[in-house]
Amino acid sequence: MREYNFCAFLITAVVVSQLGSTLAIQCYSCKSSETGEASCLMSPSTQNAEECSNDCYTSVSADGTITRGCLGNDTACSLPSCSSCKENNCNTNIVCKECLGLEECATANMTDAKYNAVCPLLDGTQCVSLVNDNRTVSLSCGSSCANVTCSSCTTSLCNEALYPADRRQCYTCSGTDCDTVAASIATGCSQTDAKCFTTGTSATNMTRGCTSATTDIKCAADSTDPGCLLCDSNLCNSQQYQRDAGSCIICDNCDAQQNASQKQSCDQALYNQTIGCYTLTTGSTVSRGCLNKLEGECSANNSCTSCSDAGCNVAAVDVPFECIACISNEVADCWSATKPEDLPAVKCGNGTCFSGIWNGLGVRDCFSSASQLMQYQCDHNVEGHQCTTCTTLTKCNAKGFSGAASLSQMGVVGLLMALMLALRSSL
Ligand SMILES: *[C@@H]1O[C@H](CO)[C@@H](O)[C@H](O)[C@H]1NC(C)=O
Ligand SMILES: *[C@@H]1O[C@H](CO)[C@@H](O)[C@H](O)[C@H]1NC(C)=O
Ligand SMILES: *[C@@H]1O[C@H](CO)[C@@H](O)[C@H](O)[C@H]1NC(C)=O
Ligand SMILES: *[C@@H]1O[C@H](CO)[C@@H](O)[C@H](O)[C@H]1NC(C)=O
Ligand SMILES: *[C@@H]1O[C@H](CO)[C@@H](O)[C@H](O)[C@H]1NC(C)=O
Ligand SMILES: *[C@@H]1O[C@H](CO)[C@@H](O)[C@H](O)[C@H]1NC(C)=O
Ligand SMILES: *[C@@H]1O[C@H](CO)[C@@H](O)[C@H](O)[C@H]1NC(C)=O
Ligand SMILES: *[C@@H]1O[C@H](CO)[C@@H](O)[C@H](O)[C@H]1NC(C)=O
Ligand SMILES: *[C@@H]1O[C@H](CO)[C@@H](O)[C@H](O)[C@H]1NC(C)=O
Repeated sequence: MREYNFCAFLITAVVVSQLGSTLAIQCYSCKSSETGEASCLMSPSTQNAEECSNDCYTSVSADGTITRGCLGNDTACSLPSCSSCKENNCNTNIVCKECLGLEECATANMTDAKYNAVCPLLDGTQCVSLVNDNRTVSLSCGSSCANVTCSSCTTSLCNEALYPADRRQCYTCSGTDCDTVAASIATGCSQTDAKCFTTGTSATNMTRGCTSATTDIKCAADSTDPGCLLCDSNLCNSQQYQRDAGSCIICDNCDAQQNASQKQSCDQALYNQTIGCYTLTTGSTVSRGCLNKLEGECSANNSCTSCSDAGCNVAAVDVPFECIACISNEVADCWSATKPEDLPAVKCGNGTCFSGIWNGLGVRDCFSSASQLMQYQCDHNVEGHQCTTCTTLTKCNAKGFSGAASLSQMGVVGLLMALMLALRSSL
């Protein structure tokens, strides 16, 4: 009887102790506001365990407090702010930043506790930073990754750093105080391939930002609006509405070489105008001036060169010096030269052109091609030849002759003979 009682007692004790062990579990218990983040957040398995009649949990609150412990009977617990589990000391969840494709995921301060999310208890869960297909950024719990658009790390909140670390940054502001920029208005762009923009109508109505911004006033990355100034490097959108445009040599039909001390003011340039000086060669004419006043582009395409220092557009332009070269019986317009640009021309290394009348024919050429007699007649203004020389500009021998062209009665062969004699006879 006593033995039976003892046996019954033993069995009851075993059953009760087994019941007890299935009912009560151990859970890590800590609160980051008391223990500090370093221990409760980062090292849960070093925390004290308490006995719980229910599940274990890990939670984050809006103020950033991490709590681990026993889950109350009717307490709601769901991701991303809370995760529960039923095993002994299972509440070792890591906490990651979670922000899915929103503009602020890339632009705002990810240290804010409102982005903290408890990760589910899956094997290999890490904190992930990812560039989405639409070039936005997402931060979350996830599995490990390591490539050019994704990176992961294993400790809690390790994904709060800027991602990608070299993300485009632009100055962002609008309105009355947006003409000059300061480090405090630098912002990361929400999309990884964003550019910076500047636009506005006055010094008190400027707008700056990333092309990926979703604000009312903005410029798209592919905008063709001339009022939109786009640039593609960090913090490049700092141009003021107006700025001094410097000084340059300004001339039309300029001499080949210029003297920098003759530079003139270029006035003010708008934010969307390039400043600097240009030298533009059109045909054989050189013009120089300020880039902010040049209509159209300055590039190799239109034989234009530019430079940025004050009065820098002085360099000699290598326009080959040419003279109109024709005889009026062969080229109809040679006599009056109404369209000098259409008349034949020759290179003239000597740099002096002439035009004159011999045997009733208008003759134009490089002065060094004329015979010594013709040169003499020209130099001494011998009556009847109307001869002039010029050195200023290429194709300068374009002055029409006075009087009607006296096409001689001689045949063409005779004319040519006479001319060759005139040109060749060297006294
Ligand atoms: C907790 O739940 C159990 C069973 O679901 C119940 O028996 C117990 O009374 C509850 N405790 C509290 C404090 O609500
Ligand atoms: C970009 O993609 C992410 C992930 O697919 C999505 O969450 C987000 O809403 C998208 N954003 C835009 C602006 O399309
Ligand atoms: C980022 O957040 C921290 C903590 O809330 C704050 O001290 C800091 O000033 C913030 N930085 C910026 C740039 O907003
Ligand atoms: C990078 O890894 C992520 C996650 O593993 C994947 O979705 C993505 O396609 C990968 N990207 C490239 C460029 O390999
Ligand atoms: C300010 O600039 C925006 C465009 O950047 C323009 O739409 C708006 O009319 C301007 N406001 C004034 C008062 O000029
Ligand atoms: C600069 O922007 C204004 C509008 O703000 C526009 O009228 C002008 O054409 C632009 N100038 C250039 C050189 O793009
Ligand atoms: C340039 O012009 C200044 C002032 O007119 C003159 O003093 C200087 O000698 C000139 N220089 C050259 C190289 O012609
Ligand atoms: C020059 O012309 C070519 C061909 O028309 C064009 O592709 C190129 O973009 C032009 N370059 C500039 C600087 O305008
Ligand atoms: C060009 O040639 C003429 C005659 O041969 C000569 O008088 C003149 O000095 C020369 N001019 C130059 C710039 O060489």
